[in-house]
Amino acid sequence: MSDDSPLPGLDLAAGLLEPPPRRDTYAGWQRWRTSRGQFAPAPRLTLAQWRALSPRERSLYDLHRTATHVNLPLQETPMSLKVSRLVNRRIRNNALKTRPSTRAGVMVTGWGYQGKTETVCEVAAAFEDAWLAMHHHLHPHPVGGTRDLHAPVAYAQTPVTAKPKSTCQAILGFFGAETKWLTLPQLIRQVADSLDDHGTKALILDDITRLRMHRADDQDTLDLIRAFMSMNVTLVLVGVDILGSGLLRQGRFDEHTRQWVLPPSQHARVHGLEATQTERRFDLVELDRFRYTTPGQIAAFHDHLAGLEANLRLLKAPPGMLTGGRMPEYLMRRTDGVVGLLERLIEDGCQEAIDSGKETLDEHLLDDVVLSLDDPDRDAQAGEVPAIPGSTPSRTAQPRTRRRNTVFDDHGPKGRTGS
Ligand SMILES: Nc1ncnc2c1ncn2[C@@H]1O[C@H](COP(=O)(O)OP(=O)(O)OP(=O)(O)O)[C@@H](O)[C@H]1O
Ligand SMILES: [Mg+2]
Repeated sequence: MSDDSPLPGLDLAAGLLEPPPRRDTYAGWQRWRTSRGQFAPAPRLTLAQWRALSPRERSLYDLHRTATHVNLPLQETPMSLKVSRLVNRRIRNNALKTRPSTRAGVMVTGWGYQGKTETVCEVAAAFEDAWLAMHHHLHPHPVGGTRDLHAPVAYAQTPVTAKPKSTCQAILGFFGAETKWLTLPQLIRQVADSLDDHGTKALILDDITRLRMHRADDQDTLDLIRAFMSMNVTLVLVGVDILGSGLLRQGRFDEHTRQWVLPPSQHARVHGLEATQTERRFDLVELDRFRYTTPGQIAAFHDHLAGLEANLRLLKAPPGMLTGGRMPEYLMRRTDGVVGLLERLIEDGCQEAIDSGKETLDEHLLDDVVLSLDDPDRDAQAGEVPAIPGSTPSRTAQPRTRRRNTVFDDHGPKGRTGS
């Protein structure tokens, strides 16, 4: 590469050629947490600068642009902010409690691809950064004999066709703990011990609605949730349409605290353990999609599009490519305001724009981009694959067709969820 090249070397972020970290193991979570946000996007070049590159530099630059378009940063949205604030408040306040009282948990609900996992993981990772910094500040030198694996946050994904045992195994898998041959009560005990041993403050159970609540062992599942909530951690449950899933079937909504309350189990013994008589409380918060009705909603969508546009590296993109003219309405129509679908449409559109040499996005080009979400990590049966506007219903599943629950809509300061 020549000295006067506009490219500051091949600036692909370190780690780009490694497989992406899996967050459901301690090592993977730590790698993700410490490397998130470190991706260096491709520098901005004008068309003239790009033309002046050698063929090799051009192909490297185009590769870097593609990497930039498939690694678009998370943006704060009014919907994600509402969720982040509540989850952060619960995790942080519970972590600072010194009494061994039951901690209120949080449930994050929403339809598929709306950013639940990313939003919750980001909040939890930021909490962990701050928690570790505080520890280092208070105990800058490690003390002999203390725990060697400090895991303030544990993240587990509920397995497809999950049952209580496999859910416990997924949590223990995060810590690399042995789970073979254990009975359910032993597994639950081991989960409690692991969380305690590793100083875990928040346990995230993602895709919890994979636990189907229409089987004979429903009660086991609810008792399992109660057991997790007794473990001195903030339990963060994330799932699609939690209200419609049956997970709250035995719960009641407390208008005063705006929390859901799970009464104590009816059974004297639960999973072989003594049942406690304490009710379990948690906040339920919905991560909504973008909407396009009020001026505030329209402005929020425009802001998001402007943020997206600022991260694109197309050589003939005019200013306001995504925010001008009818483009916002078009993008809303194509994606139904679902943040993940929008990201996918823009990502695929940019690739087409580079491949075709068009180097800009417009309706005509995006019309040819077919959205499909054949993602093996998402369980369509559990509603994790959203309905794609314009596609036939058989390709994507929106399992329970019922009106959106509006109990948690923000009706202004008086109606705020949480404390
Ligand atoms: N705030 C955001 N800004 C930009 N992109 C986002 C944002 N939130 C989510 N995304 C993108 O949307 C996609 C879907 O997000 P995520 O996997 O968190 O959705 P989900 O609600 O957990 O979906 P599922 O129910 O299928 O598990 C991801 O590729 C993510 O990068
Ligand atoms: Mg998810």
